[in-house]
Amino acid sequence: MKGVILAGGTGSRLHPLTRITNKHLLPLYDRPMVTYAVEALVGAGIDEVMLVTGGTHAGEFFRLLGNGHEHGLDRLLYAYQDQAGGIAEAFGLAERFVARDKVCVLLADNVFERSLRPVVENFSRQSSGARIVLSQVGEDEHLRHLGVARMDGDSVVEIVEKPASPPSRYAVTGAYFYDAQVWDVLPTLEPSGRGELEITDVNNWYVSRGMMEADVADGFWGDAGESIDAYYAVNDFVRSNGVNR
Ligand code: G1P
Repeated sequence: MKGVILAGGTGSRLHPLTRITNKHLLPLYDRPMVTYAVEALVGAGIDEVMLVTGGTHAGEFFRLLGNGHEHGLDRLLYAYQDQAGGIAEAFGLAERFVARDKVCVLLADNVFERSLRPVVENFSRQSSGARIVLSQVGEDEHLRHLGVARMDGDSVVEIVEKPASPPSRYAVTGAYFYDAQVWDVLPTLEPSGRGELEITDVNNWYVSRGMMEADVADGFWGDAGESIDAYYAVNDFVRSNGVNR
C-alpha cells in the first residue's frame, strides 16, 4: 500500500502564523507537525510515500525530511501543488506515484493517539472500495467545521461536509483509504461552494455505491489546522500523552 501525505493549503484558519510558514511545519510539542503524519504511516507499515505541498515554503520539507530514510521511509517523493485547489485536487497529483495500488491518504494536520496499523490491516483485507476513520466528537460547534457521517447502525449512509446541523457525533477524520477506482472518480468532481475539489465528494461516491467501510478511532484524534484553539488542544494532548502509540 502506498501513502500520500497532503501538506499544502493556505492555512488561512491559522493566520497570521501561516503567513510566515506552511501550517504543517508549525510545531506540535517538540517537532514540526508533518513529522507526526510520517510517523503515523511508518508505524502502520507504509514506507513508500509521496508528500504533496505547495506555496512558498515547500523547500523546507526537503530540509526536514530529505529522502525520508531517517524517518523510517523506504521511498519519499514530493509533488508541488501550484494552487490550493482542495484535498482531492492535491491528491490527484499523486496519480502516477500510486500507480493504481491501494493507497492511504493522510492530511498532515491530523493527529491520532493510536496507531493506524489496524485500519491499514483492515483495508488490506478489503477486496475493493474505500475506507474511512471516524472519531466521536462531543461538541456541535466542532462538528460544524468537519465532515460528519450520517449513520444507519454501523454503516455510513452519507457524509455531510461542514453541516449546520450535524447528523451524528461521528466526524470523518483525514485518513482515507482507496482502491484504484478513485482515479476514475477524481476527474468527475466539480468545485464546491468554497471553490475546492472536496474529498467528501469522493467519499460519497463510494458511500452511495455501498463500497465504503469505516473504522472508529480509539483514543484521541485532532485536526490541528481546524482553528487556533484546536491547534493548541492538539499541542497540549501531544505534549502530555504522546501520539501514534
Ligand atoms: C477536511 C475534510 C473534512 C474532514 C477534515 C478532517 O476539512 O474536508 O471532511 O473532517 O478535513 O481534518 P478541511 O480541513 O479541508 O476543512
